[in-house]
Amino acid sequence: MAGATCGSQRGRNIDGVPDSVYWKLYFAARKLPWDPQTVDLSRECADWERIRREFPAEDYAGQVLQLCTFFYDGEESVTYTLTPYLSAAARLGLGADLQLFLTSQLAEEARHFEFFRRYFAEVLPDANPRMPLPPEPRSVLVDGLQDIADRLRKEDEPGQLRELLVEGVAHYMGVVESMLARTGYRGVGEVLAARGWLPGLQEGFRLIRRDEGRHVAFGIHFLKDIASPHPPLRKIALDTFERYLPAALATVQLFDFPRPLFPIEMLVQYAMDAGQQFLAAAALTDEAVELTELERDLAEL
Ligand SMILES: [Fe+2]
Ligand SMILES: [Fe+2]
Repeated sequence: MAGATCGSQRGRNIDGVPDSVYWKLYFAARKLPWDPQTVDLSRECADWERIRREFPAEDYAGQVLQLCTFFYDGEESVTYTLTPYLSAAARLGLGADLQLFLTSQLAEEARHFEFFRRYFAEVLPDANPRMPLPPEPRSVLVDGLQDIADRLRKEDEPGQLRELLVEGVAHYMGVVESMLARTGYRGVGEVLAARGWLPGLQEGFRLIRRDEGRHVAFGIHFLKDIASPHPPLRKIALDTFERYLPAALATVQLFDFPRPLFPIEMLVQYAMDAGQQFLAAAALTDEAVELTELERDLAEL
């Protein structure tokens, strides 16, 4: 029934789902599918071989491999820990539109993890992506997300559950996706593009980063709607950022190699800017910041 716009349905979509920002983000996700199995990886093996051969002292290959390992573990972790957010949103009655979006995000996180699984299997078969992460990325990307997911699962009291969901969204969409994931995909994607290296990895990064833009936008709108108007909830979101900020920055600093492929000052700046932009856009701080980077990605929606 393309084009049907009967008056009684204006402003609503399927079966009473409100035409909200969450619905728009869900709809954008549905319009922009991609298949990790069809990203062209045919040039990757030759590129890795050349990078290892031409830059042995710099160990550029080792630096990109560390990054891919962090992303593999991070995408696996966010895939496994998102379901309790969906359940909590349903139990709190936050709306079908919000649940629809989180459902699309869950499918996308699985797709990101699938991309890295395929990449390691086909391009880096001798590497082990399951090497234990250093303590800082482990605490923010894995253990911390597992902890809040467990608490969300167990909580039944609505007021407590709402507080936990605010904490979880600040951690997951704010610290992990906004400060770390998007910073990594952006900064490293730019460096690889400038050198013309690893086009398959570049393409995967581009597609994942576009998805992450929607996830971050969801977190901003959620905290603006739910946490910003209520000082105790606002404090929980800000405290969560403060608690994980040292581990997030220490994770970025792990790319401070003697001869870094990725300028460390640039990565730290990207991460700090992303955090400030997220908090300001969610009306959790009074800072006036420009959202050009996120807006550029979301303009693709
Ligand atoms: Fe992801
Ligand atoms: Fe994400």
